[in-house]
Amino acid sequence: MRIVSASVDGFRNLKTASFTFSPRVNLVLGRNGEGKTNLLEALNYFALGRSHRGAKSDELIHFDQSHLHVGLDIEEESGATLACEYGLGRDGGRRLRVDGEALRRRADLVGRLATVFFNPDSIRLVRGGPDGRRQFVDQGMAEIDPVFLTHLTAFQRALKQKNGLLRDLKKGLTDLSTTRRELAAWNRELAGHAAAVCLGRWQYASFLTPFSNESHKSLTDNDLQLDFSYAPRLESVSKAISEAAENPISKDDLEREILAELDYIMDSEIRRGRPLIGPQLDDFKVVLEGVDLRVYGSQGETRTAAIAMILARSDVLFQKRQIRPVLFFDDIFSELDRERTRRLQEMASHLHQVFIATARRDDIADWQPEHMKTWQVNDGEFSEI
Ligand SMILES: Nc1ncnc2c1ncn2[C@@H]1O[C@H](COP(=O)(O)OP(=O)(O)OP(=O)(O)O)[C@@H](O)[C@H]1O
Ligand SMILES: [Mg+2]
Repeated sequence: MRIVSASVDGFRNLKTASFTFSPRVNLVLGRNGEGKTNLLEALNYFALGRSHRGAKSDELIHFDQSHLHVGLDIEEESGATLACEYGLGRDGGRRLRVDGEALRRRADLVGRLATVFFNPDSIRLVRGGPDGRRQFVDQGMAEIDPVFLTHLTAFQRALKQKNGLLRDLKKGLTDLSTTRRELAAWNRELAGHAAAVCLGRWQYASFLTPFSNESHKSLTDNDLQLDFSYAPRLESVSKAISEAAENPISKDDLEREILAELDYIMDSEIRRGRPLIGPQLDDFKVVLEGVDLRVYGSQGETRTAAIAMILARSDVLFQKRQIRPVLFFDDIFSELDRERTRRLQEMASHLHQVFIATARRDDIADWQPEHMKTWQVNDGEFSEI
Protein backbone atom coordinates (compact mmCIF):
# COMPACT_ATOMS: atom_id res chain seq x y z
CA MET A 1 0.00 0.00 0.00
CA ARG A 2 1.23 3.50 -0.68
CA ILE A 3 0.24 7.13 -0.61
CA VAL A 4 0.56 8.34 -4.19
CA SER A 5 -0.15 12.00 -3.59
CA ALA A 6 -1.65 14.39 -1.07
CA SER A 7 -3.06 17.88 -0.82
CA VAL A 8 -3.05 19.75 2.45
CA ASP A 9 -4.94 22.91 3.37
CA GLY A 10 -5.18 24.50 6.81
CA PHE A 11 -3.39 21.73 8.72
CA ARG A 12 -1.40 23.23 11.63
CA ASN A 13 1.45 25.39 10.26
CA LEU A 14 1.55 23.70 6.83
CA LYS A 15 1.15 26.03 3.86
CA THR A 16 -1.44 24.94 1.30
CA ALA A 17 0.38 22.45 -0.93
CA SER A 18 0.19 19.33 -3.06
CA PHE A 19 2.69 16.48 -2.95
CA THR A 20 3.50 13.58 -5.23
CA PHE A 21 5.34 10.96 -3.22
CA SER A 22 7.91 8.35 -4.10
CA PRO A 23 6.61 4.78 -3.86
CA ARG A 24 9.77 4.03 -1.87
CA VAL A 25 11.59 6.54 0.30
CA ASN A 26 10.33 10.03 1.12
CA LEU A 27 12.62 12.19 3.18
CA VAL A 28 11.55 15.36 4.96
CA LEU A 29 14.34 17.59 6.21
CA GLY A 30 14.03 20.70 8.31
CA ARG A 31 15.07 22.33 11.52
CA ASN A 32 13.11 21.95 14.75
CA GLY A 33 9.61 23.32 14.66
CA GLU A 34 9.36 23.84 10.89
CA GLY A 35 6.56 21.34 10.19
CA LYS A 36 8.05 17.86 9.58
CA THR A 37 5.94 16.01 12.14
CA ASN A 38 2.90 18.04 11.07
CA LEU A 39 3.09 16.62 7.56
CA LEU A 40 3.43 13.05 8.84
CA GLU A 41 0.57 13.64 11.24
CA ALA A 42 -1.62 14.97 8.41
CA LEU A 43 -0.93 11.86 6.32
CA ASN A 44 -1.35 9.42 9.19
CA TYR A 45 -4.60 10.97 10.46
CA PHE A 46 -6.60 9.08 7.88
CA ALA A 47 -5.23 5.73 9.04
CA LEU A 48 -6.41 6.20 12.62
CA GLY A 49 -9.28 8.64 12.25
CA ARG A 50 -7.43 10.79 14.80
CA SER A 51 -4.09 12.43 15.45
CA HIS A 52 -1.36 9.98 16.47
CA ARG A 53 -0.21 12.70 18.89
CA GLY A 54 -3.60 12.66 20.57
CA ALA A 55 -4.30 16.25 19.48
CA LYS A 56 -7.85 17.53 19.45
CA SER A 57 -9.38 18.55 16.10
CA ASP A 58 -9.21 22.17 17.09
CA GLU A 59 -5.45 22.00 17.59
CA LEU A 60 -4.92 20.57 14.11
CA ILE A 61 -6.53 23.52 12.35
CA HIS A 62 -4.22 26.41 11.42
CA PHE A 63 -4.40 29.21 14.02
CA ASP A 64 -5.80 31.61 11.39
CA GLN A 65 -8.31 29.28 9.76
CA SER A 66 -11.71 27.88 10.60
CA HIS A 67 -11.27 24.48 8.98
CA LEU A 68 -8.78 22.14 7.38
CA HIS A 69 -8.95 19.75 4.47
CA VAL A 70 -6.58 16.94 3.51
CA GLY A 71 -6.88 14.68 0.46
CA LEU A 72 -4.86 11.50 -0.07
CA ASP A 73 -4.69 9.27 -3.12
CA ILE A 74 -3.90 5.77 -1.97
CA GLU A 75 -2.87 2.84 -4.07
CA GLU A 76 -3.78 -0.54 -2.68
CA GLU A 77 -1.81 -3.74 -3.11
CA SER A 78 -4.09 -4.77 -5.98
CA GLY A 79 -3.23 -1.56 -7.85
CA ALA A 80 -6.71 -0.12 -7.19
CA THR A 81 -6.72 3.52 -6.08
CA LEU A 82 -8.79 5.20 -3.39
CA ALA A 83 -9.43 8.92 -3.04
CA CYS A 84 -9.48 9.51 0.72
CA GLU A 85 -10.20 12.87 2.30
CA TYR A 86 -11.01 14.39 5.63
CA GLY A 87 -12.11 17.81 6.78
CA LEU A 88 -12.28 19.25 10.28
CA GLY A 89 -13.96 22.47 11.36
CA ARG A 90 -13.67 24.63 14.46
CA ASP A 91 -17.40 24.13 14.94
CA GLY A 92 -16.57 20.47 15.72
CA GLY A 93 -17.54 19.23 12.25
CA ARG A 94 -15.64 16.20 10.99
CA ARG A 95 -16.02 14.52 7.62
CA LEU A 96 -14.16 11.50 6.33
CA ARG A 97 -14.73 10.26 2.81
CA VAL A 98 -13.51 7.48 0.55
CA ASP A 99 -14.19 7.96 -3.16
CA GLY A 100 -16.72 10.65 -2.27
CA GLU A 101 -18.66 8.43 0.12
CA ALA A 102 -18.92 9.51 3.75
CA LEU A 103 -17.66 7.14 6.44
CA ARG A 104 -19.85 7.03 9.50
CA ARG A 105 -18.04 4.91 12.02
CA ARG A 106 -14.42 4.68 13.11
CA ALA A 107 -14.58 0.96 12.22
CA ASP A 108 -15.20 1.86 8.55
CA LEU A 109 -11.72 3.31 8.46
CA VAL A 110 -9.86 0.23 9.53
CA GLY A 111 -7.54 -1.05 6.84
CA ARG A 112 -8.31 1.72 4.32
CA LEU A 113 -4.90 3.22 4.91
CA ALA A 114 -2.64 0.91 6.88
CA THR A 115 0.32 2.64 8.52
CA VAL A 116 2.88 2.00 11.19
CA PHE A 117 4.36 4.99 13.00
CA PHE A 118 7.73 5.13 14.76
CA ASN A 119 8.83 8.07 16.86
CA PRO A 120 10.91 8.51 19.99
CA ASP A 121 7.78 7.69 22.03
CA SER A 122 7.73 4.21 20.50
CA ILE A 123 10.05 3.12 23.28
CA ARG A 124 7.08 3.45 25.62
CA LEU A 125 5.74 0.31 24.06
CA VAL A 126 8.28 -1.59 26.12
CA ARG A 127 9.10 0.84 28.93
CA GLY A 128 5.75 2.49 29.52
CA GLY A 129 2.58 1.27 31.22
CA PRO A 130 0.41 -1.63 30.04
CA ASP A 131 -2.11 0.66 28.32
CA GLY A 132 0.36 1.34 25.48
CA ARG A 133 0.91 -2.39 24.95
CA ARG A 134 -2.82 -3.11 25.05
CA GLN A 135 -3.46 -0.39 22.50
CA PHE A 136 -0.71 -1.71 20.23
CA VAL A 137 -2.11 -5.24 20.31
CA ASP A 138 -5.73 -4.16 20.02
CA GLN A 139 -4.99 -2.00 17.00
CA GLY A 140 -2.95 -4.73 15.37
CA MET A 141 -5.64 -7.34 15.92
CA ALA A 142 -8.41 -4.98 14.78
CA GLU A 143 -6.54 -4.47 11.51
CA ILE A 144 -6.63 -8.16 10.74
CA ASP A 145 -9.96 -9.07 12.33
CA PRO A 146 -12.90 -6.64 12.29
CA VAL A 147 -14.93 -8.96 14.56
CA PHE A 148 -12.32 -8.41 17.27
CA LEU A 149 -12.88 -4.66 17.00
CA THR A 150 -16.64 -5.13 17.38
CA HIS A 151 -16.12 -7.12 20.60
CA LEU A 152 -13.56 -4.67 21.93
CA THR A 153 -15.84 -1.69 21.33
CA ALA A 154 -18.82 -3.47 22.88
CA PHE A 155 -16.68 -4.53 25.85
CA GLN A 156 -15.53 -0.97 26.46
CA ARG A 157 -19.06 0.35 26.25
CA ALA A 158 -20.37 -2.26 28.72
CA LEU A 159 -17.47 -1.63 31.10
CA LYS A 160 -18.31 2.07 31.14
CA GLN A 161 -21.90 1.24 32.12
CA LYS A 162 -20.74 -1.08 34.86
CA ASN A 163 -18.34 1.56 36.11
CA GLY A 164 -21.13 4.13 36.27
CA LEU A 165 -23.39 1.73 38.10
CA LEU A 166 -20.78 0.94 40.76
CA ARG A 167 -20.03 4.63 41.19
CA ASP A 168 -23.68 5.55 41.55
CA LEU A 169 -24.16 2.85 44.15
CA LYS A 170 -21.17 4.04 46.13
CA LYS A 171 -22.57 7.58 46.08
CA GLY A 172 -25.88 6.22 47.34
CA LEU A 173 -27.75 7.13 44.18
CA THR A 174 -29.18 3.63 43.63
CA ASP A 175 -30.26 0.78 45.86
CA LEU A 176 -28.32 -2.40 46.35
CA SER A 177 -30.75 -5.03 45.12
CA THR A 178 -31.51 -3.28 41.81
CA THR A 179 -27.81 -2.64 41.28
CA ARG A 180 -26.97 -6.28 41.92
CA ARG A 181 -29.43 -7.39 39.26
CA GLU A 182 -28.07 -4.88 36.81
CA LEU A 183 -24.47 -5.77 37.59
CA ALA A 184 -25.23 -9.43 36.96
CA ALA A 185 -26.67 -8.48 33.55
CA TRP A 186 -23.63 -6.37 32.68
CA ASN A 187 -21.32 -9.17 33.77
CA ARG A 188 -23.06 -11.54 31.35
CA GLU A 189 -22.60 -9.01 28.57
CA LEU A 190 -18.99 -8.35 29.55
CA ALA A 191 -18.05 -12.02 29.81
CA GLY A 192 -18.91 -12.75 26.18
CA HIS A 193 -16.95 -9.83 24.81
CA ALA A 194 -14.08 -10.36 27.28
CA ALA A 195 -13.64 -13.95 26.09
CA ALA A 196 -13.32 -12.74 22.48
CA VAL A 197 -10.98 -9.89 23.41
CA CYS A 198 -8.70 -12.11 25.51
CA LEU A 199 -8.52 -14.82 22.87
CA GLY A 200 -7.77 -12.20 20.22
CA ARG A 201 -4.96 -10.69 22.30
CA TRP A 202 -3.49 -14.09 22.98
CA GLN A 203 -3.59 -14.98 19.30
CA TYR A 204 -2.08 -11.67 18.26
CA ALA A 205 0.85 -12.09 20.66
CA SER A 206 1.50 -15.52 19.18
CA PHE A 207 1.36 -14.13 15.62
CA LEU A 208 3.75 -11.35 16.54
CA THR A 209 6.48 -13.22 18.39
CA PRO A 210 8.16 -15.08 15.50
CA PHE A 211 8.30 -11.92 13.39
CA SER A 212 9.52 -9.64 16.15
CA ASN A 213 12.17 -12.17 16.99
CA GLU A 214 13.28 -12.31 13.38
CA SER A 215 13.34 -8.50 13.02
CA HIS A 216 15.25 -8.22 16.24
CA LYS A 217 17.90 -10.64 15.00
CA SER A 218 18.23 -8.75 11.73
CA LEU A 219 18.50 -5.38 13.49
CA THR A 220 21.10 -6.45 16.00
CA ASP A 221 22.93 -9.20 14.18
CA ASN A 222 22.87 -11.29 17.34
CA ASP A 223 21.00 -14.43 18.22
CA LEU A 224 19.13 -13.38 21.34
CA GLN A 225 15.56 -14.58 21.70
CA LEU A 226 12.87 -11.87 21.96
CA ASP A 227 9.49 -13.03 23.24
CA PHE A 228 6.29 -11.09 23.33
CA SER A 229 3.64 -12.84 25.37
CA TYR A 230 0.21 -12.23 26.78
CA ALA A 231 -0.12 -11.69 30.55
CA PRO A 232 -3.89 -11.72 31.13
CA ARG A 233 -5.38 -10.35 34.30
CA LEU A 234 -8.25 -12.82 34.55
CA GLU A 235 -7.30 -16.10 36.22
CA SER A 236 -9.73 -18.04 34.07
CA VAL A 237 -7.91 -16.78 30.98
CA SER A 238 -4.40 -17.54 32.36
CA LYS A 239 -5.51 -21.03 33.23
CA ALA A 240 -7.13 -21.70 29.85
CA ILE A 241 -4.03 -20.46 28.04
CA SER A 242 -1.60 -22.47 30.14
CA GLU A 243 -3.61 -25.63 29.42
CA ALA A 244 -4.30 -24.83 25.77
CA ALA A 245 -1.68 -27.23 24.43
CA GLU A 246 -3.45 -30.29 25.89
CA ASN A 247 -6.90 -28.81 26.07
CA PRO A 248 -7.87 -26.52 23.17
CA ILE A 249 -9.79 -23.47 24.34
CA SER A 250 -13.53 -23.33 23.72
CA LYS A 251 -14.82 -19.77 23.64
CA ASP A 252 -18.11 -20.78 25.30
CA ASP A 253 -16.34 -22.52 28.17
CA LEU A 254 -14.05 -19.54 28.61
CA GLU A 255 -17.02 -17.18 28.66
CA ARG A 256 -18.63 -19.25 31.42
CA GLU A 257 -15.43 -19.26 33.47
CA ILE A 258 -15.00 -15.51 33.05
CA LEU A 259 -18.58 -14.89 34.12
CA ALA A 260 -18.06 -16.98 37.24
CA GLU A 261 -14.91 -14.99 38.03
CA LEU A 262 -16.67 -11.64 37.52
CA ASP A 263 -19.67 -12.67 39.62
CA TYR A 264 -17.41 -13.98 42.39
CA ILE A 265 -15.77 -10.60 42.81
CA MET A 266 -19.00 -8.59 42.67
CA ASP A 267 -19.18 -7.92 46.42
CA SER A 268 -15.63 -6.54 46.51
CA GLU A 269 -16.40 -4.37 43.49
CA ILE A 270 -19.48 -3.01 45.23
CA ARG A 271 -17.41 -2.19 48.32
CA ARG A 272 -14.68 -0.49 46.29
CA GLY A 273 -17.04 1.22 43.86
CA ARG A 274 -15.22 0.17 40.68
CA PRO A 275 -14.54 -2.88 38.50
CA LEU A 276 -11.53 -4.75 39.88
CA ILE A 277 -10.69 -7.37 37.26
CA GLY A 278 -11.00 -7.85 33.52
CA PRO A 279 -9.12 -7.43 30.24
CA GLN A 280 -8.99 -3.66 30.82
CA LEU A 281 -6.06 -4.53 33.13
CA ASP A 282 -4.24 -6.99 30.84
CA ASP A 283 -0.55 -6.66 30.09
CA PHE A 284 2.03 -8.23 27.78
CA LYS A 285 5.57 -9.32 28.60
CA VAL A 286 8.56 -8.36 26.50
CA VAL A 287 11.37 -10.73 27.33
CA LEU A 288 14.88 -10.80 25.87
CA GLU A 289 16.73 -14.03 26.67
CA GLY A 290 14.70 -14.50 29.83
CA VAL A 291 15.08 -10.89 31.01
CA ASP A 292 11.91 -8.79 31.31
CA LEU A 293 12.72 -5.65 29.33
CA ARG A 294 9.79 -3.75 30.83
CA VAL A 295 11.81 -3.64 34.04
CA TYR A 296 15.45 -4.39 33.24
CA GLY A 297 16.01 -3.27 29.63
CA SER A 298 18.77 -0.78 28.78
CA GLN A 299 17.85 2.23 26.62
CA GLY A 300 19.23 0.69 23.47
CA GLU A 301 17.81 -2.78 24.12
CA THR A 302 14.41 -1.38 24.87
CA ARG A 303 14.41 0.82 21.80
CA THR A 304 15.52 -1.98 19.51
CA ALA A 305 12.91 -4.37 20.94
CA ALA A 306 10.17 -1.76 20.45
CA ILE A 307 11.22 -1.24 16.84
CA ALA A 308 11.31 -4.99 16.23
CA MET A 309 7.80 -5.33 17.62
CA ILE A 310 6.43 -2.50 15.51
CA LEU A 311 8.06 -3.88 12.37
CA ALA A 312 6.57 -7.27 13.23
CA ARG A 313 3.14 -5.71 13.21
CA SER A 314 3.65 -4.95 9.55
CA ASP A 315 4.67 -8.57 8.91
CA VAL A 316 1.57 -9.89 10.64
CA LEU A 317 -0.61 -7.59 8.57
CA PHE A 318 1.04 -8.87 5.42
CA GLN A 319 0.77 -12.50 6.47
CA LYS A 320 -2.93 -12.23 7.32
CA ARG A 321 -4.19 -9.68 4.81
CA GLN A 322 -1.47 -9.28 2.19
CA ILE A 323 -1.16 -5.58 3.04
CA ARG A 324 2.15 -3.80 3.43
CA PRO A 325 1.54 -0.71 5.55
CA VAL A 326 3.16 2.66 4.93
CA LEU A 327 5.93 3.25 7.47
CA PHE A 328 6.59 6.59 9.14
CA PHE A 329 9.87 7.27 10.93
CA ASP A 330 9.74 10.52 12.81
CA ASP A 331 13.05 11.53 14.31
CA ILE A 332 13.97 8.01 15.29
CA PHE A 333 17.40 7.39 13.81
CA SER A 334 19.27 9.91 15.92
CA GLU A 335 18.80 7.59 18.89
CA LEU A 336 20.16 4.43 17.29
CA ASP A 337 23.75 3.60 16.51
CA ARG A 338 24.80 3.89 12.90
CA GLU A 339 24.80 0.16 12.19
CA ARG A 340 21.26 -0.37 13.53
CA THR A 341 20.08 2.74 11.74
CA ARG A 342 21.34 1.49 8.41
CA ARG A 343 19.89 -1.99 8.93
CA LEU A 344 16.52 -0.53 9.86
CA GLN A 345 16.52 1.75 6.82
CA GLU A 346 17.30 -1.16 4.52
CA MET A 347 14.78 -3.51 6.13
CA ALA A 348 11.98 -0.95 6.08
CA SER A 349 12.44 0.46 2.61
CA HIS A 350 12.93 -2.95 1.03
CA LEU A 351 9.22 -3.76 1.09
CA HIS A 352 7.38 -0.61 2.13
CA GLN A 353 6.80 2.97 1.22
CA VAL A 354 8.54 4.95 3.94
CA PHE A 355 8.43 8.53 5.17
CA ILE A 356 11.39 9.76 7.18
CA ALA A 357 11.42 13.06 9.01
CA THR A 358 14.65 14.32 10.51
CA ALA A 359 16.42 17.48 11.52
CA ARG A 360 19.79 15.83 10.96
CA ARG A 361 20.95 15.03 7.46
CA ASP A 362 23.60 12.82 9.07
CA ASP A 363 20.93 10.25 9.88
CA ILE A 364 20.73 9.32 6.24
CA ALA A 365 24.30 10.19 5.27
CA ASP A 366 25.60 8.03 2.43
CA TRP A 367 22.36 6.09 2.21
CA GLN A 368 21.15 6.39 -1.32
CA PRO A 369 18.17 4.15 -1.92
CA GLU A 370 16.60 4.12 -5.36
CA HIS A 371 13.64 6.42 -5.99
CA MET A 372 14.20 8.68 -3.02
CA LYS A 373 12.41 12.01 -2.92
CA THR A 374 13.56 14.74 -0.58
CA TRP A 375 11.81 17.84 0.72
CA GLN A 376 13.13 20.71 2.77
CA VAL A 377 10.57 22.40 5.00
CA ASN A 378 10.83 25.97 6.26
CA ASP A 379 8.03 27.47 8.29
CA GLY A 380 5.47 25.02 6.92
CA GLU A 381 6.52 25.49 3.31
CA PHE A 382 7.89 22.45 1.48
CA SER A 383 10.31 22.55 -1.43
CA GLU A 384 11.51 19.47 -3.22
CA ILE A 385 15.28 19.19 -3.51
N1 LIG B 1 -2.75 24.74 14.81
C1 LIG B 1 -1.58 25.28 14.45
N2 LIG B 1 -1.53 26.39 13.64
C2 LIG B 1 -0.34 26.92 13.27
N3 LIG B 1 0.85 26.44 13.66
C3 LIG B 1 0.86 25.35 14.45
C4 LIG B 1 -0.33 24.72 14.88
N4 LIG B 1 -0.02 23.66 15.63
C5 LIG B 1 1.33 23.63 15.69
N5 LIG B 1 1.87 24.65 14.97
C6 LIG B 1 3.29 24.96 14.78
O1 LIG B 1 3.90 23.91 14.07
C7 LIG B 1 5.26 23.90 14.48
C8 LIG B 1 5.68 22.51 14.87
O2 LIG B 1 5.76 21.74 13.77
P1 LIG B 1 6.28 20.24 13.89
O3 LIG B 1 5.86 19.59 15.14
O4 LIG B 1 5.88 19.63 12.61
O5 LIG B 1 7.85 20.50 13.95
P2 LIG B 1 9.02 19.56 13.48
O6 LIG B 1 9.54 20.10 12.18
O7 LIG B 1 8.58 18.17 13.53
O8 LIG B 1 10.08 19.89 14.60
P3 LIG B 1 11.01 18.92 15.50
O9 LIG B 1 12.25 18.69 14.71
O10 LIG B 1 11.27 19.75 16.70
O11 LIG B 1 10.24 17.69 15.80
C9 LIG B 1 5.43 24.71 15.69
O12 LIG B 1 6.15 25.86 15.37
C10 LIG B 1 4.02 25.00 16.10
O13 LIG B 1 3.91 26.25 16.69
MG1 LIG C 1 8.93 16.64 14.86
